[in-house]
Amino acid sequence: MSVLTQALRAALDSRTDLLATLHAQGTDCYRLFHGSQEGAGGLTLDRYGPQLLVQSFHQPVDRDTLLGLHAEVQQRLGLPLHLVYNDRSGGNSRIDRHDKVYSAEPAALEDMIGHEWGLDYRVRGRHAGQDPLLFLDLREARGWVKDHAKGKSVLNLFAYTCGVGLSAVAGGASEVCNLDFAEGNLAVGRENGLLNPRLPEMSFVQSDYFPAIRQLAGLPISQRRGQKLPSYPRLAQRQFDLVLLDPPAWAKSAFGTVDLLRDYQSLLKPAILATADDGVLICCNNLAKVAFDDWRDQVLRCAEKAGRPVRQWSRLGPGADFPSADGQPPLKIMVLHF
Ligand SMILES: C[S@@+](CC[C@H](N)C(=O)[O-])C[C@H]1O[C@@H](n2cnc3c(N)ncnc32)[C@H](O)[C@@H]1O
Repeated sequence: MSVLTQALRAALDSRTDLLATLHAQGTDCYRLFHGSQEGAGGLTLDRYGPQLLVQSFHQPVDRDTLLGLHAEVQQRLGLPLHLVYNDRSGGNSRIDRHDKVYSAEPAALEDMIGHEWGLDYRVRGRHAGQDPLLFLDLREARGWVKDHAKGKSVLNLFAYTCGVGLSAVAGGASEVCNLDFAEGNLAVGRENGLLNPRLPEMSFVQSDYFPAIRQLAGLPISQRRGQKLPSYPRLAQRQFDLVLLDPPAWAKSAFGTVDLLRDYQSLLKPAILATADDGVLICCNNLAKVAFDDWRDQVLRCAEKAGRPVRQWSRLGPGADFPSADGQPPLKIMVLHF
């Protein structure tokens, strides 16, 4: 048996209880193999409902190995899964479109539905972006939001496909606003809403983060070195009871730079000011090289300086399908109570 097969078997063994728990709570989207911690750096296997998504980040996986992994997972879960393999080790993801194993069967690339916390989510093996449509390491945060959103106004910042927003409406939020600058991502969020027709509707704001959050926070929008700014939607100053701030590691726009390593404060301060006095802000940092303790200190200091000291905070981890031997998973999540 190959070293990789042994590692996959060990990973599946360690998830026996977890998978039973997840299935019982209406979840069939989870990580089956987290290579960096389970014996094959740069390789991940995720289940998204009826699909098995294999991703490689360091080097491509050869055809026989891929088929072996697929067979192993199907046998262990006792169900057939559509295989999609996305190699992300080169400049462009996806390789050799002529070989069916790499290009995927047409049925594997159809729109599908995955489930999490009893909600339906759009699953698409390939789409315009590289990342899957649902980030699995944020599942516990979505669960927390679902459990705590009742009667709350919720602002979902960097909403992507609006999973946090959907969890909030499912938890009984009084209103949910999803904000992102990418219309394509919000369109999937709309689809996710339509897939759950019993839930109240969410609202969507397509805007760059910086002008939107600064307007909500009542802060001025500064021009950079006299350059004229692109137009942006006008929003009235207001606060929300529950705010989720989950930015990408780095992104540049005409309005500013998202930089989780060098400048978390520019993102955090206006988000704090847009959170109600007795509200809750969930903030995230997915950069592996930022240690939790350092980031926590920055976050608490920033709140203090903004005149909104944190009354109480807690940490949310990714689920047990994202093991981390040193207790330092890349995605760090803090729940701040003001
Ligand atoms: C890491 S994803 C956020 C994940 C998301 N919170 C979730 O629940 O899955 C990053 C998102 O930020 C958006 N984004 C990046 N820079 C932005 C900016 N300056 N303003 C608004 N959205 C931005 C991207 O379009 C993308 O949807």
